[in-house]
Order: sequence, then C-alpha cells, then structure tokens
Amino acid sequence: MSLLDGKVAVVTGAGRGIGREEALLLAAKGATVIVNDVGASLAGDSNEGQPAQVVVEEIQAAGGRAATNYDDVSSWTGAQNLVNQAVEDFGQLDIVVNNAGILRDRMSFNMQESDWDDVVRVHLKGHFAMSHFAGVYWRSESKAGRGRPGRIINTASEAGLYGNVGQANYAAAKAGIASLTWVLARELERFGVTVNAIAPRARTRMTESAFGAIEAEDDAFDPWEPGHIAPAVAWLASDGAKDVTGQIFVVFGSTVELVEPFKVVSALDAGARRWEPEELVQRAPELFGDRLSGLPKFDVGL
Ligand SMILES: NC(=O)c1ccc[n+]([C@@H]2O[C@H](COP(=O)([O-])OP(=O)(O)OC[C@H]3O[C@@H](n4cnc5c(N)ncnc54)[C@H](O)[C@@H]3O)[C@@H](O)[C@H]2O)c1
Repeated sequence: MSLLDGKVAVVTGAGRGIGREEALLLAAKGATVIVNDVGASLAGDSNEGQPAQVVVEEIQAAGGRAATNYDDVSSWTGAQNLVNQAVEDFGQLDIVVNNAGILRDRMSFNMQESDWDDVVRVHLKGHFAMSHFAGVYWRSESKAGRGRPGRIINTASEAGLYGNVGQANYAAAKAGIASLTWVLARELERFGVTVNAIAPRARTRMTESAFGAIEAEDDAFDPWEPGHIAPAVAWLASDGAKDVTGQIFVVFGSTVELVEPFKVVSALDAGARRWEPEELVQRAPELFGDRLSGLPKFDVGL
C-alpha cells in the first residue's frame, strides 16, 4: 500500500521545475495525477511546447496513472475545467497542488501595468480559482454524505514572506497566497479539507533567471535539486497530515521549516485614552526594544 493509493490529484504548472517533480512523486506514491501546464514561457507571454505531455509519458512509463490538461489556471473557466476533468474522468478529486507561476521582475518604479496584472493573475487568481472550484466540489460531496479529506497545497515564496527587491508583483501575489491559505484553511475545515502552503527554494528556470546559474558541488548532496521539494508536498497530501492545516513551510534541500504567521511581538498602551503622536515619538523605542526598527533581514543564501 503506497502513501497516496486511490487518490486523484491535480498539480498545476506540472510540466516543468518543481511541479514536474511533485507530479512524478505523487504518481509514484500511488495517486492518479492530472498534469496541468499551459506550456508558458517564464514571463508567461508566449507558449513553448507541451511539457505536460512529456511528464504524463514519464509517469506512465514508470507504471503510474496520469492525464494531461492544458488549461490556464488563471482563467475561471480553465480552473473549472481542470476540477471537472478530475471528477468526470477519474470519479473524484482529493488533492490540489497549486504551483503554476510566471515571473516578470522589475523595480517597482519600472514596472508596467501588464507586469503587475499578469503576475498577480497567474499566481494569486490561479490559486484562488482552483481552490474555489475544488471547494465547490468538496462542499457538495460533504453535503451529499460523501465527505472527502481534501487537500490543497499552495505555493508561496520567501519573496512574499520577507519581501524581495525587484519582485513587487510576485511578492505581493505570494504574500496574498499565504493569507489565502489561512482563509481557505478556516473555511474548508468544516468539510474535512486541509490547506497548507510551501515556500520552496530550488534550481529551476525561475531561480536561474532571477539569480543566475546555481552550480552543484561535485559529489555532495545538492540542496538545490527541485526533486527535494516534492516529499513535503506528498506528506501534506496524505492522510498522515490530516491534522496539519493553515501552515506554511519553507522547503529547501534536506530541510522543512515551519513558519509562524504574523504575530504581535510587543505593545504600547496609552491606558484607555487616545495617544498623542508626540508621545509615540518618545515611546516608540520601547516598542522595538532590541528588535530592528528598519528592514528585517532577508537572505536566501544565494
Ligand atoms: N524555484 C524556486 O526556488 C521557487 C521559489 C519560490 C517559489 N517558487 C514557486 O514554485 C512554483 C513553481 O516554480 P518553478 O521554479 O518550478 O518554475 P517553472 O517556470 O519551472 O515552472 C512553472 C510552470 O508553470 C506553468 N504555468 C505558467 N503559467 C501557467 C498557467 N496560467 N496555467 C498553467 N500553467 C502555467 C509554466 O508553463 C511552467 O511549466 C511557482 O509558483 C514559483 O513561484 C519557486
């Protein structure tokens, strides 16, 4: 018995990079996988082949079950088609891995309207549209007395958790995905569905375009291999993670790190009256203590 036997999964943007590895591992662990990918260029402004077909062939050659899907996840009807395909062709949907994404890095003062709109649409609307239609399905199954322990695994980014220069569009979308994860986790808990997010770090065309070539050290464990991300996703997709929801994990190489959401770390209280701003000028150092009052550190070790 494999970890994901009998499950039906959709992995978006699974033709390349991290999503490809996730689709391969979910299938190797027994899931039937719909490999979605529009075959977009990195910037999402043109199409480059049908990588989903190649991944489906790899899964089938290894004895797994898979099907292609070429819908654009950032379109409402595309996301609906994808969810419908799982239910109509395989009878059910258990796992949604939201992974598809594009990149258009520019400084905020150089960014064009289309760079903002397209990146936010593919990542944030793409995650939401898929989650919406999966939620519609799981809710109706639950109401019909066929409740399924559904799983959504979203893909955030450390750029969204900490903010990264040149990525206003991308980081804002990824931070939105973190917040979306918490909302969906709260809303879908009643149907037995868990919703978590990973913030991965791996060598793909996305990181190599942002940071340049990332070399592997000879004969050493290469932490940048994109295949290292998939085991955490398979865990979150499994029945073994039924009590894990609303969580964010940074996943890199051999590490899985748990991230705490925003939390209050210190407070000032005027005592049942409104503050005068001049008082806050005076007392603000108490709020920070020995914490930074400037930018938090952000270093992904590249
Ligand atoms: N590589 C990293 O270190 C890293 C870091 C943080 C977050 N991420 C996130 O991980 C995810 C995967 O990134 P990757 O590095 O593997 O990139 P990638 O470019 O290799 O893969 C992304 C895939 O998404 C597909 N895609 C793009 N738009 C789509 C759409 N509208 N509908 C369906 N498919 C679409 C592309 O065709 C591509 O195959 C992304 O969400 C990315 O933001 C990656």
